[in-house]
Amino acid sequence: MTRAAITGVASYVPEKVLTNFDLEKMVDTNNEWIISRTGIKERHIVAEGEASSDMSVKAIEKLLKQTGVRADEIDAIIVATVTPDMLFPSTAALIQNKIGATKAWGYDLSGACSGFLFALKSGGSLVQTGHKKVIVVGVDTMSSIMDYTDRNTCILFGDGAGAVLLEPTEDEKFGIIDDILYLDGSGGDALYMTAGGSRKPASQATLDAGDHYLKQDGRSVFKRASKDMAQVSVDILNQNNFKAEDVAIFIPHQANKRIIDVAASRAGFTDEQVLINIDKYGNTTAGTLPLGLDEVVRENRIQDGSLVLLAAFGAGYTWGSTLLRYGPSRKA
Ligand code: ACO
Repeated sequence: MTRAAITGVASYVPEKVLTNFDLEKMVDTNNEWIISRTGIKERHIVAEGEASSDMSVKAIEKLLKQTGVRADEIDAIIVATVTPDMLFPSTAALIQNKIGATKAWGYDLSGACSGFLFALKSGGSLVQTGHKKVIVVGVDTMSSIMDYTDRNTCILFGDGAGAVLLEPTEDEKFGIIDDILYLDGSGGDALYMTAGGSRKPASQATLDAGDHYLKQDGRSVFKRASKDMAQVSVDILNQNNFKAEDVAIFIPHQANKRIIDVAASRAGFTDEQVLINIDKYGNTTAGTLPLGLDEVVRENRIQDGSLVLLAAFGAGYTWGSTLLRYGPSRKA
């Protein structure tokens, strides 16, 4: 059976760094509180005028260079984001034009922190039905929807983009093995941004009410994320007859170090098996998983054929896990 294989990965974070000490000057918070409650030390923030498509293009350009693939060979571009440059045209269209992917079609999808898993599913399905080269991007410019006077949210998020190349393989040593994906809209009132869509178009009133900012009931999200990201990680291993020790690396969504610790210990992973980079980037929403995958590949923590478990939980609620064998990596 044809599987979709991840044959390359690259990422980009903006230059500007916003530290906990910078935030101490902006809201009533402190470095110790942020580190002990979340694990975050700093996050990267876009420059004035920089948007999700710009970060995505930087990540994709690296990816194409690394893999030796030309932009005009790409069949499709799928972009997971809740912070597109604009409502339309899609971020995929903006990227397609900027990189010169003349043959590609594509679209954006909104799955919040689980968006990259949803996009991998879509991209994988395209590869299994005949596409030869699909780019899947996870990107968010969370600083664009952050209220930097709200200490409950502004300390958590950062900006970043990651991209993978998906290609078909017939070799069972590689490729996406399985996924479990969920959507539970009853959690919609715990994490949301209400304005700017058709329900509440932008107006002076929505601006004055702060409705263009992300709002979150942190405790509710925390409880559900801890429970469901742990369970879906255990379930996908059981469903495929793998044990925790078979996994080379567990890459969980980076929303809170304490949520990650619950999932890792429930699934039985050692510290060495778990990717944690929330200290450097905060929560980049759809960006966290490809940023994490890029990091473990660059640091040689995995090789071609290594078993990788991705898991996420986010707004919607959305959550899920994807199990794959990395590679075969394509070198330029
Ligand atoms: N600095 C100092 N104190 C703070 C800060 C801050 N930045 N933020 C909140 N506090 C205070 C609160 O006001 C509260 O004070 P009170 O007891 O006097 O009311 C106290 O600290 C404890 O607040 P809690 O909300 O109980 O703190 P908690 O330990 O739950 O941590 C946090 C809050 C970090 C937001 C946590 O709940 C969390 O990580 N939630 C999940 C976030 C998440 O997973 N989001 C999903 C992904 S995002 C997406 O999909 C787009």
